[in-house]
Amino acid sequence: MFEIVERSEMAQGTIISNWLRAPKIAKKALPGQFVILRANEKGERIPLTVADTDPERGLINIIYMVVGKSTALFKTLQVGQGYMDVIGPLGQPTHLEKVGKVVCVGGGTGIAVMHPIARGLRQVGNHVITIIGARSKDLLILEDKMRAVSDELLICTDDGTYGHKGFVTDMLKKVLTENKDVGLAVCIGPVPMMKFCCLMTKEFNVKTLVSLNPIMVDGTGMCGCCRVRVGGEMKFACVDGPEFDGHAVDFDELTLRLRSYLAQEKLSYDQFKAAHGHNCACHT
Ligand code: FAD
Ligand code: FES
Ligand code: MG
Repeated sequence: MFEIVERSEMAQGTIISNWLRAPKIAKKALPGQFVILRANEKGERIPLTVADTDPERGLINIIYMVVGKSTALFKTLQVGQGYMDVIGPLGQPTHLEKVGKVVCVGGGTGIAVMHPIARGLRQVGNHVITIIGARSKDLLILEDKMRAVSDELLICTDDGTYGHKGFVTDMLKKVLTENKDVGLAVCIGPVPMMKFCCLMTKEFNVKTLVSLNPIMVDGTGMCGCCRVRVGGEMKFACVDGPEFDGHAVDFDELTLRLRSYLAQEKLSYDQFKAAHGHNCACHT
């Protein structure tokens, strides 16, 4: 068992952070990589990014949003309990190079995915401008951690309850207009956010990386479930990615593929909620 040693809730209980005992993964994981977890022997295989590591204590950090049956089941796991299996690190690590000035844009749990990448880009000598956003103040995560790894941190909320009122794309436009020397953008968050950030950076001719989240099963390039079209070619996000050139990604196809099993996912979540009672702490 991969034991949970620390657990906390963020964004009004919709986002959960777990530090797990996984010493081998903690030693090897690099920014941009992910793990696949199962809570128990009947559990689905769920890919989650390695949001941070503590190799000395042999711990890895995962941060996930509760969106359906398996993440709701994960939410029920408390300190001292754990996951039956955790495999990884999987995927290609981020290519960290010094380009000068970099803009990192994170939305929702994409902020957790962004954290080790922004830190890595800064460690190799880049000036990192980070833009993070959420629907409202209560849903914004990791502000302090992102501030610690950024030269400049800009915050946006859709409803204006904190930071600048508006979308991260509006702020991205402002930053790119004022900083003609940005050499790289990294945009990670919900698919529509990444799509619109990429349209924006294309206008400014700034190379852009995105981290894709197609449905995955084995995570090792064998099932083909995670196919994404990039520059007209079929790629497997689990082994070729999850990061790709955002200007070449077919986001519309990705959106359609992510919706393939909506009816089954809804049924399974409804059954889970019914079985666990409507007032339990494990779902929102
Ligand atoms: P469901 O109701 O089953 O699904 C909700 C939606 O999640 C689906 O409509 C579908 O779009 C997507 N989904 C369902 N099953 C899978 C699957 N097996 N693989 C991928 N997507 C699926 N989420 C986070 O909150 N934090 C992270 O750090 C994070 N990192 C990820 C890294 C990678 C490489 C990938 C591919 C996905 C990542 N995700 C992350 C998304 C996370 O895996 C899904 O939210 C989760 O699988 C949903 O499972 P569920 O049973 O709770 O919800
Ligand atoms: Fe099976 Fe990528 S998840 S090939
Ligand atoms: Mg599921």
